Amino acid sequence: MHSMDEEVLQHGTARTALAVPPREEGFWVSAKNIERLSRVASRSDRGEQVNVLIRGPKGCGKTTLARDFAARWSRPFYEVHCGAFVDAEQWFGKDRLNQGETWYRKARFIHATETPSCVILLDEINRAHPEVLNAVLGLLDWRRSLWSDDLTYEVRVAAGVVFFATLNEGEEFFGVNPLDAAVRDRFPRTVRLDYPPKREEAAILQSHGLSSPMAHKLTEFAHTLRKASRPVPVSTRQLMVAAEEICEGASLREAVETAIIFGTEDIALEKTALQALQWVEDEPFVAGPDNS
Ligand SMILES: Nc1ncnc2c1ncn2[C@@H]1O[C@H](COP(=O)(O)OP(=O)(O)OP(=O)(O)O)[C@@H](O)[C@H]1O
Ligand SMILES: [Mg+2]
Repeated sequence: MHSMDEEVLQHGTARTALAVPPREEGFWVSAKNIERLSRVASRSDRGEQVNVLIRGPKGCGKTTLARDFAARWSRPFYEVHCGAFVDAEQWFGKDRLNQGETWYRKARFIHATETPSCVILLDEINRAHPEVLNAVLGLLDWRRSLWSDDLTYEVRVAAGVVFFATLNEGEEFFGVNPLDAAVRDRFPRTVRLDYPPKREEAAILQSHGLSSPMAHKLTEFAHTLRKASRPVPVSTRQLMVAAEEICEGASLREAVETAIIFGTEDIALEKTALQALQWVEDEPFVAGPDNS
């Protein structure tokens, strides 16, 4: 590699400075999970490299949790959407054309891997193409390094780097890959997330401007569906959208239709959701913390 190439490599690195993300306002994490994550942070502080799998149902805060970890412990953060990588070389960099000449620009992922204490999120790892993921397995196991033909050097994971991977539960029903055994083995720590308890979920909605009675009606609706004999997965994200609709002047029914019911493709689930909606609309007691 000649010196101009290196300059471009350096330049590419400088342009992609990794930042500590801001705290997620109002993001709720259980006390147990805070403890779990603080143990991860302690290991990372001692220079260990830690891999953590975050699993849970859709829209329960998996992606946000990884970002929030970086924010809480003031770490630079980098996120890869695994499903978007179609070929293994994307991990390392790509050729760029500049004034008729081709330059190789190192990928941000490599830059993040080489940044001490960086938090790297491999988001929706079960959507990764297996052959694409195989190319970086060496970074995730005891080797913590791999030779890159593209970069022509041995990439090493910096001290204290934390890899998070998220896994959406239930996606196997929609034809998304189950988690590969090789990947599972490389993530020996797991944080299992679920939707926040009723009281906390109502508080989240209120912190976004929703009135207390409406917040309690929405969370009651969601919890009824989640514990139905054939559960309807209503996510915290969907409740937030319903709350936004109500804040824009929609009725409870309109908001729930827009955020949850009209997007449901399963007629039986839609029917269950409509029944639960009818119930919270009619039930005057579903409106305060004492009844939640
Ligand atoms: N525990 C929580 N506290 C506050 N807000 C939450 C919480 N969980 C989810 N949310 C809200 O829902 C949104 C979706 O969260 P996020 O994208 O992190 O979930 P996810 O589990 O990664 O979703 P997906 O399954 O679609 O990948 C967040 O932007 C946040 O507004
Ligand atoms: Mg996510």
